[in-house]
This record gives sequence, structure tokens and C-alpha cells, in this order.
Amino acid sequence: MIINQWYVAEEVANITDSPKRVKLLGFDFVLFRDETGAINCLSDVCVHRGASLGAGRVEKGCVECPYHGWTFNGKGDVTKIPSLPEGTKVPARARVDSYPVQEKYGWVWVFLGDLPEAERPQLPAFPEFDDTENWRCIRGEWLWQADYVRVVENGLDFAHAPFVHPSFGDRDRAVIHDFEIEADEWSATAKVTYIPPLPRGIWRYIRKERTPVEAKPSFHCSGATMRLDVWLSPTWRMVIFDVNTPVDENTTITRWIMARSFFRQKIFDGDSRKRTLKIFQQDTVIVEEICPELVPIDLREEFSVKSDGLMNAFRFKRRELVQRGWALDIQALQALEGRRAVVIPSPTRREEQGRNFVLKTAPLLPGDAVPEAVAAE
Ligand code: FES
Ligand SMILES: [Fe+2]
Repeated sequence: MIINQWYVAEEVANITDSPKRVKLLGFDFVLFRDETGAINCLSDVCVHRGASLGAGRVEKGCVECPYHGWTFNGKGDVTKIPSLPEGTKVPARARVDSYPVQEKYGWVWVFLGDLPEAERPQLPAFPEFDDTENWRCIRGEWLWQADYVRVVENGLDFAHAPFVHPSFGDRDRAVIHDFEIEADEWSATAKVTYIPPLPRGIWRYIRKERTPVEAKPSFHCSGATMRLDVWLSPTWRMVIFDVNTPVDENTTITRWIMARSFFRQKIFDGDSRKRTLKIFQQDTVIVEEICPELVPIDLREEFSVKSDGLMNAFRFKRRELVQRGWALDIQALQALEGRRAVVIPSPTRREEQGRNFVLKTAPLLPGDAVPEAVAAE
């Protein structure tokens, strides 16, 4: 799992008056609204005696620790220590890490890392979400007992559709013709065509015959986002936009939005939802059984072909991030588990060169130990 990236921590709608404890990358965080209504994200471990701030309450825009009542503002600074006499100065080290937050597409995005603002990646674009005149969106969640990299790759993998999703692809027409990949610093997109099976149900009104369908799968590092654009006809479009949050190494929450440019009335939402969930169900059967559970660091330990190009672009991008020294050292973390609290470093910690922070930061894999990437066969 990689730090210095944006991840989706929660649905905005689920942030209420109480603090919300969430687990991301194997670490606990607390989300709460301050007095301006803005959502804040702090490390959940109280620096006093390690209680969970998420089990406390929100008081005047601060989160109050349930154990001795210390209150923390959105910057992570302690504003009150009730056991000290009135007027006592709060020590500078009485604080926890605070992480940048953005609200977008109805989700709470949290930047887990210490990069200054100018170096942080953008969030992925999703213009259809705001274009409510022309698009109808439905949303939901899906929980996987699987590594989030496997989950994202599954979304980028076109060759599996005819075998895992018979309503999307035809196993007798499974060839993926050559495609180009367009990439930038944080994302990549492919453009492919596929031959769908003969349509059934309401889809017979969209596709009357086996005409090739154009699709654009893409990924963006922020949110470990997978986006799939499908042109069912020149005007009938569908976009699936999934953010994939690693809860821990083997648990992933996919939060998804499905936008459609046709049948935009609410009455068709149920059918869209049913079809979307069926796809997740079909994928889960395969993805949760993949061996090994984690994508190997040395990519030669799996055999790739040309049609795996977009997945490999994602692998190479991730490798680059590992080489920057941003991957958590899971084995070292497991050895610490429950014995010592460590945290993901926040931007303020970097700005102040770690001064006045009590907890140590999480062990990271040395980037120069990563083997070189290999191209597809
Ligand atoms: S453990 Fe949080 S105030 Fe004591
Ligand atoms: Fe799939």
C-alpha cells in the first residue's frame, strides 16, 4: 500500500455530528466536522494514552478524547487538557497528525502523506457527475476480501469480460485488437472495441444487433480510481467510476458511481443497480481467489500479454511510486502491531521536520530495493 496519495475515506453523507472512525491502509483515522462545517481527518490515536478519538464526541468543532477529555482541533492540536488548571499552556507536543481533506463527488477524499500541496496529485475528473441535465447517477459500495491493486486491475482488464461477464462479452469473440494507451503523470487510458453478445431485456432497444461497442477503461492514482466509459451507441453512454480504498492489505472498499445518459428517469435506477451489483458479484468470485493475494513486486512472477497493456501501465506507475520510497513496509508494520503505535506522516510534520510530534512514522520500503520493470511479452 502506497502513501502520498488521495484515498476516499467515506461518503460525505455519512459524516454527522459524531466523530467517524475509519480504517485506511491499515491505520485508524477519525473524521469530524469543525464549526465551519468542514470535514477534518486526524490520526485516531490519542497522544496521551492511546485511546481512540473516534470513540469520543465532537464539542465546539473539536474532537474530544473519550478517556481524559483532551480536545483536538482540525489541525490536530490539543486545545484543552481538562486535568490541568485553567490558564495552563498546552504543550506543543500535545497534538496528532492532521491530513488534507477534499469533498468531491459526494465522497471524503483524504491525502495520506506529507507532500506539500503543490506536489499532490489532482483528483480524477468526472464531469458527468455534475451534469445532471444529461446524466443520471446511482451510487453504492462493494466490499472485497482482496488487495486493492487486484481489484483495480480487474476493472482495467478487458480480456476477462467475455468469460466472467457473459452479458458484456462474447467468449467466441474474445480477441482484443491492438489499442493505444494515453498516459500522463497520474493516469492512463486505453481505447478498445469489443463485440457484445446479443442483447437481452431493455438493452434490446439500445443495441439491435452485434455492432462493436467502443469503451475506454482508465485509471487514476488518486483514489485508486478505475473509470470505464462505454459508448453503447453514438448517444447512449455509460460511465462507471470506482474509487478503491485499501482498508488493509486484504480488504478493499469500492465506492462506485454509475452514470448513464439514457433512461434517466428514476424508475430505471433499480435495473441499473441490479446489473452493476451483478458485475461486482461475478468479479468477486474470481478476484478473492487470486493467488498470490498481492500483485508481486517482481512482475516477472506473472506472465503478461499485449492485451494486459493497461493493467501493466498501472503496475509500472505503482512501481514508480514504490521506487520513490512511498510503499508501507507491511512486514515491519506487522511486527509492530499492537505493540507500538506509528502513523502516516502528515504535511505539517514534514514542514516542521518532525519536531513536536510524539508518535514515530510508519516504516517504508526502501525504494532502491525494487527490481526493474519488465515489458509485456
Ligand atoms: S488518552 Fe486521550 S485524553 Fe487521555
Ligand atoms: Fe469484471
